[in-house]
Amino acid sequence: MRLQGKIGVVTGGGRGIGEAIALALAAEGCSVAVAGRTQAQLEKVSAQIQKLGRESLPVVCDICDPGSVAALFRAVHDRWGRLDILVNAAGESHSDLLARLSFETWQRMLAVNLTGTFLCSQEALRLMLPRKSGRIINIGSTAAKIGFRYAGAYAAAKHGVLGLTRSMALETATSGITVNAVCPGWVDTEMVGKAVQTISSKTKMTAEQARDMLAADSPQKRIFAPEEIAFATVWLACDESRGITGQAIDVSGGQVMS
Ligand SMILES: NC(=O)c1ccc[n+]([C@@H]2O[C@H](COP(=O)([O-])OP(=O)(O)OC[C@H]3O[C@@H](n4cnc5c(N)ncnc54)[C@H](OP(=O)(O)O)[C@@H]3O)[C@@H](O)[C@H]2O)c1
Repeated sequence: MRLQGKIGVVTGGGRGIGEAIALALAAEGCSVAVAGRTQAQLEKVSAQIQKLGRESLPVVCDICDPGSVAALFRAVHDRWGRLDILVNAAGESHSDLLARLSFETWQRMLAVNLTGTFLCSQEALRLMLPRKSGRIINIGSTAAKIGFRYAGAYAAAKHGVLGLTRSMALETATSGITVNAVCPGWVDTEMVGKAVQTISSKTKMTAEQARDMLAADSPQKRIFAPEEIAFATVWLACDESRGITGQAIDVSGGQVMS
């Protein structure tokens, strides 16, 4: 096992990509705190992690709230006394044209996708820097690298996540810490379910046609499995990946090639 004895935090760990990442870290020997706003989902994932023989802590946390984020990392420190891996997987998308986007939605997109990632990463650094060791992995998106019609605020926030990733990677480069992003194409989670619903409610497409349209964004013509994102994340979390920092690894079937 590659992450035996490590301690990890996964935000958005209660479902979707975050859930797959939490389980994949645990399968490699890592104890994992899962954080999000929905207690029942966190408890379900936590129980699955314990079934794998690892320790787990479900922590209700709103990553947009600095006090709530501080409490999450305090709980992790109280339980294990250290932190090795932070995965920022919590996020939310919204579909609308920028020309008619409300100010509130713009702010919410920045808060949950960018500010939340900053707040969690800053708290993680406070635990990692004194030990000169750590991994921060931000779940970006292909929307971190290219523009998307109807997802402008989300794309702006995710582009910001890459700026944060690269800057934090430079600031921690001699501190034994790496900071990277994993940038998925469309992944089969509630987020895609919501996108399919929106497309079919606003066009004459069936749900199946809407899914095919999303899949067509990738040269591989498919929607990805959460486990594929989890695999790239585990790889970046390994000790052997210590030379990789400031990178944004695409898992998109070649949708973006940089
Ligand atoms: N699915 C895709 O196609 C796709 C593609 C590229 C990138 N991504 C990125 O992958 C990440 C995971 O998305 P997903 O597809 O797994 O979506 P999802 O199934 O909707 O999960 C989103 C997760 O984020 C948590 N979350 C949302 N707002 C939060 C907040 N304010 N505080 C704490 N947790 C919060 C949710 O938990 P609660 O609601 O319980 O808080 C949930 O666990 C996101 O960053 C997303 O942008 C997804």
